[in-house]
Amino acid sequence: MNDGDDADRPGPAAPARGPAAGSAATEGARMNAPIDRHATTAVPIHPLLASRHSTRAFTPGVDLGDDQIAALLEAARWAPSAGNTQPWRFLVARRDTGEFKRVLDCLDPGNRDWASHASALLVAARTDANAKGPLPHAAYDLGQAMAHLTFQAAAEGLTVRQMGGFDAAALAAEFGLEAPLVPMTVAAIGVAGDPAGLPEPVAGPDRRARVRLGIDDLLIRP
Ligand SMILES: Cc1cc2nc3c(=O)[nH]c(=O)nc-3n(C[C@H](O)[C@H](O)[C@H](O)COP(=O)(O)O)c2cc1C
Repeated sequence: MNDGDDADRPGPAAPARGPAAGSAATEGARMNAPIDRHATTAVPIHPLLASRHSTRAFTPGVDLGDDQIAALLEAARWAPSAGNTQPWRFLVARRDTGEFKRVLDCLDPGNRDWASHASALLVAARTDANAKGPLPHAAYDLGQAMAHLTFQAAAEGLTVRQMGGFDAAALAAEFGLEAPLVPMTVAAIGVAGDPAGLPEPVAGPDRRARVRLGIDDLLIRP
């Protein structure tokens, strides 16, 4: 089914279009083909939305400026939330720091290698309660904040790959994050790099056209 790339799990890449796979020549041609990660949309959408994509290939050795990190957090800060409760909290770990290594060590092995080249790792946590009581929409709100952050990053020429593949309990213990704080994702942030430098099972998704369910599959028809 042409529904999604299952890209959270590194695995063999399948060509999205072009000649049937099989021969070494075909495989070689595919590996060297220009990478077009721009969404093929059914109708025009904002170019920033169409061009944003997640990569596992980062340009190593790039430091983010304080202004860049401030802009990402500011974008997240202005996301909408239920009752304006803003139940999002962030831990920013820049490359080449002890914090970065500590976050990296909590990632699943399949994420750790490529994420090690990111400029920063950002832990996105939700808080499930505030002084007034439980916040049942906290996860939803955190997702919106991360969407804001992701598009601000795209506008700044940065790329973000969010990860659910990490040990949340280990990360919470490492940084003393206690309930009602719940780490939900870790985002690798940086400048997109060349996927040719990554092993094929890891880079595979970065070589494929991006796919989505059709609008018809999303609509609930009464
Ligand atoms: C909540 C969440 C968890 C994800 N977990 C991982 C992960 O553990 N490893 C990974 O490589 N990508 C992960 N991704 C990235 C998705 O695979 C990617 O966003 C998806 O394939 C769509 O690709 P696109 O962002 O380029 O449109 C995650 C994304 C989200 C939003």
